[in-house]
Amino acid sequence: MGSGIYNKPIAFALTATVVILIGTVVTMFYPMLTPEMHPKLENLKPFTALQLAGRDIYQREGCVNCHTQTVRPLKTEVLRYGEYSKAGEFAYDRPFLWGSKRTGPDLARIGGKYPDAWHYKHFEKPQGMFPQTNMPAYAFLAKNKLDPAEVEAHMKALDFPYTIEELSALGSKTDMDALVAYMQVIGTAVKKTAPVAAAGGVKEVHFPNPLADNPQAIAKGKDLYAKNCASCHGDNAKGDIGPSLVDDEFFYEKGDMPDDDYFEVTNNGTSEGYVEDGRTGKGGMPGFKDSLSKDDIWSIVAYLRSIKGK
Ligand code: HEC
Ligand code: HEC
Repeated sequence: MGSGIYNKPIAFALTATVVILIGTVVTMFYPMLTPEMHPKLENLKPFTALQLAGRDIYQREGCVNCHTQTVRPLKTEVLRYGEYSKAGEFAYDRPFLWGSKRTGPDLARIGGKYPDAWHYKHFEKPQGMFPQTNMPAYAFLAKNKLDPAEVEAHMKALDFPYTIEELSALGSKTDMDALVAYMQVIGTAVKKTAPVAAAGGVKEVHFPNPLADNPQAIAKGKDLYAKNCASCHGDNAKGDIGPSLVDDEFFYEKGDMPDDDYFEVTNNGTSEGYVEDGRTGKGGMPGFKDSLSKDDIWSIVAYLRSIKGK
């Protein structure tokens, strides 16, 4: 008899149930009971009162409808956003805010990506930075003061530790301060994949800008500068959130640096302690290697050189 169990519906159903149950139990309980499969993140801490208040505003304002907070382990996502999300990162996210729709970019690695000042400016008027964005302006958040009693109740409900000083400090903070503090902590429990640090002591070889003084490149660089850099370095590169790019100082020391140092900083971005040719940065400059081509960056450098001293 060739068909066997296929002719006995009840036995078939029972066997199928048992087999599926074994599968479920193994795939559920094995990882649950194997500590190596869910490593504790040492840097993960409960939210502070200010961060939690910001998280409440994130929920209240519906940011989750346009932004996700989880990076999938896919090459394209990791290249764009950074390290993929780990289960342990969400231990204090109650409830989690993964979201399911990306009208705007994922925010799982937003913490530390920009300086605080960038976020204030962006929330106040996103269109001032990215004319095409449909993100609404949140300038009104700077007018609402936080209510320490309400935050305390929420901290208690979630069983997060806090101090009286921490709570009374909230009285002078606004919804905007809280939201920025929340932005800066998201995703920080996972180590950033560090940009390849320039090895100390190795003699730098400098490359000239292949597009220096090229009129087409300068025109293109001007356009690219306005779209990508002006929000932080100012309309005429004289400095705003980031330092001036047309003065005689580079990384807080007198004396300009060669074109390829401009290229490196723009390409890699900086984080605290980043070293360029022996000078140390403070961090806060995003890298553009994923969004701009080499020619684009050289064009911007050519443009910056063309306006220097004017
Ligand atoms: C209607 C959809 C929409 C809503 C609602 C929205 N955003 Fe956005 N957001 C965007 C878009 C589109 C961008 C990309 C362009 C830009 O930066 O403005 C963006 C960008 C951002 C960025 C910069 C991300 C990066 O990596 O450069 C942050 C931070 C951010 N949003 C936070 C928030 C927060 C916090 C809220 C809620 C207070 C919010 N957004 C509400 C659409 C939205
Ligand atoms: C989110 C804000 C931001 C944006 C956007 C930004 N920068 Fe920066 N930039 C900074 C900050 C902050 C620093 C200081 C970095 C440090 O101290 O590590 C900096 C430093 C630099 C430096 C070193 C300058 C010096 O004199 O010390 C260069 C060159 C530079 N940026 C070029 C660019 C270019 C070109 C673009 C556009 C493609 C750009 N930046 C976009 C914030 C930004």
